[in-house]
Amino acid sequence: MPDEGGSPPGAILLCASDQLEESGRGAVFDVLLWRAPVRAFALRYEGRVVAYVNRCAHVPTEMDWLPGEFLDADRRYILCSLHGAAYEPTSGRCVGGPCTGGRLMAIEVLERDGRVYWYPSRDIRPPPAVEQEESPTRHE
Ligand code: FES
Repeated sequence: MPDEGGSPPGAILLCASDQLEESGRGAVFDVLLWRAPVRAFALRYEGRVVAYVNRCAHVPTEMDWLPGEFLDADRRYILCSLHGAAYEPTSGRCVGGPCTGGRLMAIEVLERDGRVYWYPSRDIRPPPAVEQEESPTRHE
């Protein structure tokens, strides 16, 4: 989607707000985790947008059942499709299954003016093509 209004400093446009329905399908996007390409996802839960690296704490593999489908049938937990680890959507904390004690890697997000943005961190960076569009500094 075109970023007509410009991203907040340091933030990267992820998607339009209305793309993320409450407890619905996640928006999948590419990041570099420790310089390796991986996927991440954002979804809306209890009105709030959360984002995580798409990487199970049990075995480092992607978790979606179908592309963008992360929540269980009751739309209550993020459920890994491989062995059924369950994660609390708001915290990324493991609450059941073989990931006990683990946690998803959270990505900071911002929802503003009908758009959702994410913030890179030391460990989680944008892919090179996205980095060129990134604002150079963050002033918040
Ligand atoms: S890889 Fe996710 S529960 Fe085993």
